[in-house]
Amino acid sequence: MPATVIVGTQWGDEGKGKVTDFYASKADYVVRFQGGNNAGHTIMAGGEVFKLHLIPSGIVQKNKTVVIGNGVVVDIDVLLNEMAELEQRGFSTKNLLISDKANIIMPYHKVIDSLMESGEGTIKIGTTGRGIGPCYSDKISRLGVRFQDLNHPEFLSKRLAYICRLKNRLIESLGGKERFDPMSMADELLKRSKPLVGRITDTPLLLNQALDQGKNVLLEGAQGTYLDIDHGTYPFVTSSNTTAGGACTGAGVAPNRIDSIVGIVKAYTTRVGEGPFPTELTDEVGRRIQDTGKEFGTTTNRPRRCGWLDMLVLRNASRLSGIRSIAITKIDVLSGLPEIKVAVAYKRQGKSIEEFPSDIHLLSECTPVYRSIPGWPEHTKDQIVDMVRVGYDGLPKQMKEYIKFIAEGMKVKVDLVSLGPEREMTIDLRA
Ligand code: GDP
Ligand code: IMO
Ligand code: MG
Repeated sequence: MPATVIVGTQWGDEGKGKVTDFYASKADYVVRFQGGNNAGHTIMAGGEVFKLHLIPSGIVQKNKTVVIGNGVVVDIDVLLNEMAELEQRGFSTKNLLISDKANIIMPYHKVIDSLMESGEGTIKIGTTGRGIGPCYSDKISRLGVRFQDLNHPEFLSKRLAYICRLKNRLIESLGGKERFDPMSMADELLKRSKPLVGRITDTPLLLNQALDQGKNVLLEGAQGTYLDIDHGTYPFVTSSNTTAGGACTGAGVAPNRIDSIVGIVKAYTTRVGEGPFPTELTDEVGRRIQDTGKEFGTTTNRPRRCGWLDMLVLRNASRLSGIRSIAITKIDVLSGLPEIKVAVAYKRQGKSIEEFPSDIHLLSECTPVYRSIPGWPEHTKDQIVDMVRVGYDGLPKQMKEYIKFIAEGMKVKVDLVSLGPEREMTIDLRA
């Protein structure tokens, strides 16, 4: 704090929701800065489970201002449903604000997302089907619909007349049957977004004023480093910058105002959707990790591909985002494995590769070179609760060695060790 960025270091689902909630206890503002409802962030607190797709994870801590930043793409129906569900469960959303510059996911974005995944000759990405890629494409093409446009119905109608013409042609060329009518679309959008109108504001101004006043701002990343549109395993990526730089552009907070960048490291690796994954395990060990770690997508319920930890992935993530400290999650899932492996290099055509390859075509041909690390025994839930109570010194010796190995490899300090999904199953090592 005051401005802290949380980023995923792998392919998403590292436990950003849990860690954001934990850090949020000391925050005044919690901000999502990119992505949309492709994200699924889980929090377990007070005996309840929360699966958030758009609303920042700070909402569960109560009395925080939560902000959907300008870099986010928003599906209005999903947002309204998420707000209604939280309200029903007794969590006020009155302090939820939305950037007037955030782009809106339109019905045609979802149709195009699905058509582009299945068309002849396409490369299937395995997207979440939420219209994320087409919405960001329109933002970059200057064809986006933004929250501030809702205050200007005439402009909106004119704009949608042009956009719908283009989209209908595209959908037709992709073999789709749907056609969109701009007038009814504008009416529907204005009607549905009414409950949000009072929340739409200049959030970069608000966040910078808050920082001027010494308030704590927590910037919650979605997805992970290798889903970054520039630095990820393109084209098997999402359509936003998931690395720390995205927090600056996506929230309107300048780089020199960011005080710390925390990388979330799952103690093994997972990936949902298609694309290269050098340490993937397709054997019994992979299935065991998937089973114990309950590795099924929070958004789409798809099984997550599982594999060993990869130091090339983590070192590169650290470099790209300037990570100085990490939170290690799900280390409890590895308990009971006699041997744990970590990739320390790759091999390609007999040659050793020490750093994560920039060329995805080469990456696909790499096989990992593993270091074997002794595992630690399985523990009952009560034993883990005891370990958390004692703190770092109470952890099994081999687990501490594993943590040290990761931290030294990434040249970072360890802020948190998470030993279970619940908020209290966390060892806080911050001074
Ligand atoms: P996110 O997208 O990065 O927020 O992560 P997800 O919520 O999609 O996936 C992480 C999953 O692991 C969720 O089901 C969490 O409840 C769970 N989880 C988080 N930390 C831990 C942990 O330390 N141990 C275990 N066993 N589960 C965890
Ligand atoms: P959180 O924030 C894991 C993946 C999809 C697909 C690719 C592109 O919960 O970590 P998209 O719908 O974004 O165009 O899909 O990105 N993906 C995620 N994988 N966690 C996520 O979010 C993801 N968001 C997108 O599976 O491979
Ligand atoms: Mg997730």
